[in-house]
Amino acid sequence: MEQKVEELRLKFEKEIAATSTAAGVNDLKISYLGKKGPVQQLMRYLKDVPPEKRPEMGQSINNLKVHLTEKCENALNRFIEEEEGARLAEEFVDVTLPGRRHYMGREHIITKEMNKVIDVLISMGFTVQYGPDIETDYYNFEALNFHEDHPARDMQDTFYIAPDMLLRTHTSNVQVRVMESSAPPIRIISPGKCYRNESITARSHVFFHQVEALYIDEGVTFADLLYSLNEFLEKFFGRKLETRFRPSYFPFVEPGVEVDVLCLLCEGRGCPVCKKTGWLEILGAGMVHPEVLKNGGIDSEKYTGYAWGLGCDRLAMIMNGVDDIRAFTENDIRFLEQFA
Ligand code: DAH
Repeated sequence: MEQKVEELRLKFEKEIAATSTAAGVNDLKISYLGKKGPVQQLMRYLKDVPPEKRPEMGQSINNLKVHLTEKCENALNRFIEEEEGARLAEEFVDVTLPGRRHYMGREHIITKEMNKVIDVLISMGFTVQYGPDIETDYYNFEALNFHEDHPARDMQDTFYIAPDMLLRTHTSNVQVRVMESSAPPIRIISPGKCYRNESITARSHVFFHQVEALYIDEGVTFADLLYSLNEFLEKFFGRKLETRFRPSYFPFVEPGVEVDVLCLLCEGRGCPVCKKTGWLEILGAGMVHPEVLKNGGIDSEKYTGYAWGLGCDRLAMIMNGVDDIRAFTENDIRFLEQFA
């Protein structure tokens, strides 16, 4: 019996030395000291021991029990402390680190200017109609009177994505779409992105923004065009601005004009943004060509209309004193933040 106690103690010593986690020690404790464990079993054998030897043996088993319990408790405490230390190290937070700065999202300056344009035009009775950026050759060119070998197609270096599919070169692509789906009076604007395969410079980019306007009704005249354009510009700039209308050519209007405003950056004295002319071209306009009305299924004997296309990037440049169009899309947060 004495020997059994000693053997058990040695076996335990070996096993606890090989245990390295709190959970392992707990298992060991249960397996040795639990109800069905070897220590309890020894207790049960005690009745077979001669009575005079029983007190001594009982004491010996009890000593073993106390010893095992103590060893388990000590190991347990040590491992719990170690494991807690490791957990704390892993979750360590350096409260002295400076905080990370979070930037608040906000409207891009071009979006902001475009929304201003849209708001003014809505106040003048136009409604907004969006068109697709990826367009067929038909709506971007053909229906607008640019025939297949029309030289004006060369004015617009086009990104083709298939023989008949392209990135729209202007927001005029909505014109015939709208005519097809609605009857006069039509009074819509269409804001959006446009794309042209041009070299990127301070003044031009491969993608830019336009707002197209289209008004078709009985008896719409060139005077209506001039009046509403001036009205729009005055409302947008908040003051009467000097404007200049120059005759120009676009296949989908007749007559066509280009509209310049006095350069806001140099007030007409001449600067790099206006190429020293003192004027900034901001839109193209004209009376809708009868062929285009016909393509849209509108009776060109009965109805007339005007259209214009406004370049928003140029506008955002002059309104904010930005002299390089590339700055808008380089996404330097220091630049963009100025317009918060
Ligand atoms: N689509 C033309 C361009 O991108 C601009 C334009 C000119 C639009 C005359 C019009 C217009 O509606 O009447 O160059």
